[in-house]
Amino acid sequence: MNGLPANGSIRTLTAREMLLLREHLLRLDPESRRDRFNGAADESFVESYAARCLADGTVVIGYVEDGKVLGAAELHQPDSSDDGVPEIAFSVERSARRKGVGSVLFKRLITEAEGRGHESLRITTGYRNKAMRALAHKFGAHLTFRHGESTGSIDLKHPTQPEAATPAVTTAADAARAAMNFSRA
Ligand SMILES: CC(C)(COP(=O)(O)OP(=O)(O)OC[C@H]1O[C@@H](n2cnc3c(N)ncnc32)[C@H](O)[C@@H]1OP(=O)(O)O)[C@@H](O)C(=O)NCCC(=O)NCCS
Repeated sequence: MNGLPANGSIRTLTAREMLLLREHLLRLDPESRRDRFNGAADESFVESYAARCLADGTVVIGYVEDGKVLGAAELHQPDSSDDGVPEIAFSVERSARRKGVGSVLFKRLITEAEGRGHESLRITTGYRNKAMRALAHKFGAHLTFRHGESTGSIDLKHPTQPEAATPAVTTAADAARAAMNFSRA
């Protein structure tokens, strides 16, 4: 399925809304939280992680439904990684999965990263994480495996997948239109 629920929207969270990111990450069930952080992450870890995202200027694009963030795409600052390649990460709550939310967030994040002049992005996920690997592949990430983790990079200057090169859809109506165009193609 490619259409977002009618009452959902995608937008960049303001600094004041970063509490919603914390609540979203805390709501993830244990398996999803482990997948998201590539390992064990208790409540205090998640709370300090969310606080750090606010403090270091991480850009968070949220999937918002009825005032709750049910999905998030994070674009970390380039100076947070050793080689200056920004890290990205995704999380969608179980109730909102397999509806295209992760894909719409990914597209929007790529547009945001391009606008900021980034040339590539890095994503790290557990090698057993089929969902994230499928999502990353869809956007042209080349994943390599090491120590139980897959690390992938996405080249924004030379996108290899049409998904990475098309403009972001930001509303449920846009997503529905994109799904229709996709089916027609
Ligand atoms: C990974 C995640 C963000 C995907 O979100 P989502 O909203 O379900 O993603 P989408 O619905 O856009 O699906 C994206 C693609 O992945 C595929 N996919 C999704 N879940 C899958 C699964 N469990 N197994 C295989 N493929 C899967 C879909 O079929 C889709 O491909 P398609 O468009 O060709 O059909 C979500 O599963 C999640 O939050 N997982 C827990 C946190 C996590 O693992 N984060 C990654 C660490 S950065």
